[in-house]
Amino acid sequence: MLIGIPRETRPGETLVAATAKTATQLTQLGYDVVVESGAGDAADQADSAFTDADIRVGSADDVWAADVVVKVNAPTQEELGRLRPGATIISMMAPMRSPELVEQLSQAGVTALAMDAVPRISRAQSMDVLSSMANVAGYRAVVESAHEFGRMFTGQVTAAGKINPARVFVVGAGVAGLAAIGAASAMGAIVRAFDVRPEVAEQVESMGAQFVEVELESEVSSDGYAKEMTEEQQQATAAMYDEEARAADIVITTALIPGRPAPKLITAETVAGMRGGSVIVDMAAANGGNVEGTETDQRVVTDNGVTILGYTDLAGRLAAQTSQLYGTNVVNLLKLLTPEKDGQLTLDMDDVVQRGMTVTKDGEVMWPPPAVQVSAAPKPVAAKAGPAEEEKKGPRLTERGRLSLVGALALLLFLLIALAPAGLQLNLTVFALAIVIGYYVIGHVHHALHTPLMSVTNAISGIIVVGALVQLGFDNTAITILAAFATLLASINVFGGFAVTRRMLGMFSRS
Ligand SMILES: NC(=O)c1ccc[n+]([C@@H]2O[C@H](COP(=O)([O-])OP(=O)(O)OC[C@H]3O[C@@H](n4cnc5c(N)ncnc54)[C@H](O)[C@@H]3O)[C@@H](O)[C@H]2O)c1
Repeated sequence: MLIGIPRETRPGETLVAATAKTATQLTQLGYDVVVESGAGDAADQADSAFTDADIRVGSADDVWAADVVVKVNAPTQEELGRLRPGATIISMMAPMRSPELVEQLSQAGVTALAMDAVPRISRAQSMDVLSSMANVAGYRAVVESAHEFGRMFTGQVTAAGKINPARVFVVGAGVAGLAAIGAASAMGAIVRAFDVRPEVAEQVESMGAQFVEVELESEVSSDGYAKEMTEEQQQATAAMYDEEARAADIVITTALIPGRPAPKLITAETVAGMRGGSVIVDMAAANGGNVEGTETDQRVVTDNGVTILGYTDLAGRLAAQTSQLYGTNVVNLLKLLTPEKDGQLTLDMDDVVQRGMTVTKDGEVMWPPPAVQVSAAPKPVAAKAGPAEEEKKGPRLTERGRLSLVGALALLLFLLIALAPAGLQLNLTVFALAIVIGYYVIGHVHHALHTPLMSVTNAISGIIVVGALVQLGFDNTAITILAAFATLLASINVFGGFAVTRRMLGMFSRS
């Protein structure tokens, strides 16, 4: 089959659906590929890049006559007219919001696969163009904001004085929000973020930001997307948005509920209360915006000097890399659709990924697909333990009980030390102190640092091995047995620790 890659006709579009590299990967699946001349110019993919890779460059007619046409934006009515009946068109289509396009695709008698309708399940992640785009866009939003802000993000203490770090507030911690958090934290800003899905708090924190808590009765998401908030939840968050935005230098909003206009979260009043020179990047501008005063694709400066960016082409501003990612998503999709690698596209309607993105099949309307339970949904939170289960777990210590237990243990150790032979007293004192310090130090180590902590315990085990080896020379059999046992246990820790660390490091090395 022939795959055609046309030049995008949307004004200002910089992206292309295949790069020389991904087009070559398509040929490896058995397809012939033809790219429209000039299609990749704005994405650093000149015609020569394709011809150098033995990919044919042709006219628009060559491309639209192909069996499968792959593009970035939804086809226009005119483009649909150029498709031959029975052809397959693959592109982003927003079918949920475009019933008229679905109708046109059906009338054209084609098979249409929407790249932006890939279900959010782990298996389909490699084909998820929305994630690829949002990831790049989130990064670029930070770059745009830093440029407008005109000041450093990182804090510094220099001989010439102190520079405070910029304060960034990110609304919505989906793919775009998390990418923005990562980029802003990497640049040294203090980042705070909020999302209505409470399950993302851990991800926010792992990206280096602080999750802003609001007392909400929010449900854990079952499909990886947010649900619309209740009146009560909206009121509770409104005050938080106002407070956070006023305190921030940069606000990046990414809040979105699929199939609905973007929720308005930052009011004009809040914007008016922000410091002059602050910057807002409203990433939801294409869906109506999260901020009052956003104008789609415009840079607006308010009377009090706050800049609001409503750009909808953030991913396209890093065209080469976004095209490469989009092209790779397309290759991954075609791998799925070409199991025999024979250049023959086959659609399996029993496969949830293929079914989920099929808008029309040979002209028959297949939209909407059946709902898919996605993997983004975390495991259900266990119901609160009832009294019977609490009983099974045994009585829980009260604060007073805990203090009494600690006191009793301290007294026991004190008596043990006091009554011990003089030679042992010092060792027991060190032992008691080690317990207390170890409890507090290790108990407060963040989970993420447990591996380095393991390395430290390895070092301690090394000391134990040396100590035990010294004891082995004694005539006393009991001491010899104990020393041999200590050597064995400590050695297991040392060598086991190294083996585990080696395996973990192996996960990060490029093969
Ligand atoms: N401007 C651009 O160039 C560009 C490019 C790519 C994506 N986007 C846009 O960025 C936005 C985010 O994309 P994404 O892929 O990360 O989407 P996503 O669905 O992964 O994330 C949206 C997040 O917003 C959260 N959310 C919903 N309502 C909220 C509310 N009231 N308060 C706080 N959080 C709320 C959701 O829980 C979710 O985590 C979308 O609007 C998308 O269209 C813009």
